[in-house]
Amino acid sequence: MASEHEVETTGLAGWIDQRFPMTATWKKHVSEYYAPKNFNFWYFFGSLALLVLVNQIVTGIFLTMNYKPDATLAFASVEYIMREVPWGWLIRYMHSTGASMFFVVVYLHMFRGLMYGSYRKPRELVWIFGCLIFLCLMAEAFFGYLLPWGQMSFWGAQVIVNLFSAIPFIGPDLSLWIRGDYVVSDVTLNRFFAFHVIAIPLVLVGLVIAHLVALHEVGSNNPDGIEIKAKKGPDGKPLDGIPFHPFYSVHDFMGVTVFLLIFAAIIFFAPEMGGYFLEANNFVPANPLQTPPEIAPVWYFTAFYAMLRATTDPFKIVLMIVIGLLGLLALVKARGKWKLGLPVLAVLVILAMAFTESKFWGVVVMGSAVISLFFLPWLDQSPVRSIRYRPFFHKVFYAIFVIAFLTLGFLGTRPPSPVATLIAQVCALIYFAFFLGMPFWTRLGTFKQPPERVRFKPH
Ligand code: HEM
Repeated sequence: MASEHEVETTGLAGWIDQRFPMTATWKKHVSEYYAPKNFNFWYFFGSLALLVLVNQIVTGIFLTMNYKPDATLAFASVEYIMREVPWGWLIRYMHSTGASMFFVVVYLHMFRGLMYGSYRKPRELVWIFGCLIFLCLMAEAFFGYLLPWGQMSFWGAQVIVNLFSAIPFIGPDLSLWIRGDYVVSDVTLNRFFAFHVIAIPLVLVGLVIAHLVALHEVGSNNPDGIEIKAKKGPDGKPLDGIPFHPFYSVHDFMGVTVFLLIFAAIIFFAPEMGGYFLEANNFVPANPLQTPPEIAPVWYFTAFYAMLRATTDPFKIVLMIVIGLLGLLALVKARGKWKLGLPVLAVLVILAMAFTESKFWGVVVMGSAVISLFFLPWLDQSPVRSIRYRPFFHKVFYAIFVIAFLTLGFLGTRPPSPVATLIAQVCALIYFAFFLGMPFWTRLGTFKQPPERVRFKPH
């Protein structure tokens, strides 16, 4: 069968190739995958995410060999791993540090996509698979956090599962169903263990494969946000493309080296990272009869957690007014035509909000903050992809968005206070305004003309 990636191999490789597309797959995805030659620092994080994924799976397998998913034994089995199992402490710290570093790497990877418009046509599915990966990663981290059966594991799970009970009608039954008991218990621990070690990792790995297959189908974007496939040489290869291997395998190897240095430094010198990676309260065994004074999730959830806490009764009223104004805007834009879907939806949401608790809307706000990401490819209407060629005020908007997100992240780690809640409310509004306003503000301003060919300076 003639293919774009001709293979003619002999010997053992030839024997395999006649039965399985080994060389063809290597060529298609590695040695003849043409990637833009102007990748920069921000392009390290995809391969680093893959590295951390492998680290989590391998260390996870070894942890499972000594961990006991039983409410009476779990905490002690983790201590046993830390003190008695040869190198157990290293395996455990590699796994716990890996969890945090996974989020560091993935947040930076997502931010790169945002800066260079990598989610835009034809990469919408690459982005959507990425968003699904992000959801899975959050579920994976949440289920995993219960396993050491410390105070934070227990009470964190208790708080999050209880959120579901705020859903009208089905809520209380739903949270009972998730827990499998009236409180978080051994039953909950067993099912969270099943989700953490097999169900979610399977889905995660499947999604990562889909993410990369989709990316290799359309080809990588780059910091200039222009299509390298538009300019091909007589051999049909993109003029601005270079084979992934050896050029980017070497490049990524450098990224991996620097990353591993940082990773090792954290593991050996600051595995708890001042309570941000491993919380002090989680070194105390779970006690269902004693609520800790402060229940805070691990840092990677705190931005979303701060939005949940910010949704107080007065904030619910602010949200109702904002939704009302948006409905009115949609009505004006409809200009007498029968496009009444959005205004009617706004009225229905306002009515629903009037009759339900703000706790439920906190859950909705928190969920919507993640779901908004999925719509980015269609919300962004800018004529150019990359931030490099956008008006200055777009850069200012990106900066405000990042500051608001980081502020939310910080506030989520602190105990609530009236001032902190007010700041969190403003930041939550900025977060949503960034996305909801995108169809309008991304069209505005004077755009620079992107170059015909990528900008590249050889080192
Ligand atoms: C386990 C987590 C993930 C892994 C292992 C992973 C892996 C990768 C790899 C290896 C690449 C190609 C190299 C690169 O462009 O950096 C890539 C590209 C990409 N990823 Fe991910 N990714 C993950 C999560 C995500 C998430 C959460 C998103 C967004 C929500 C995302 C969006 C993208 C986009 C848009 C590209 C194309 C970038 C471009 O061509 O400019 N990824 N990913």
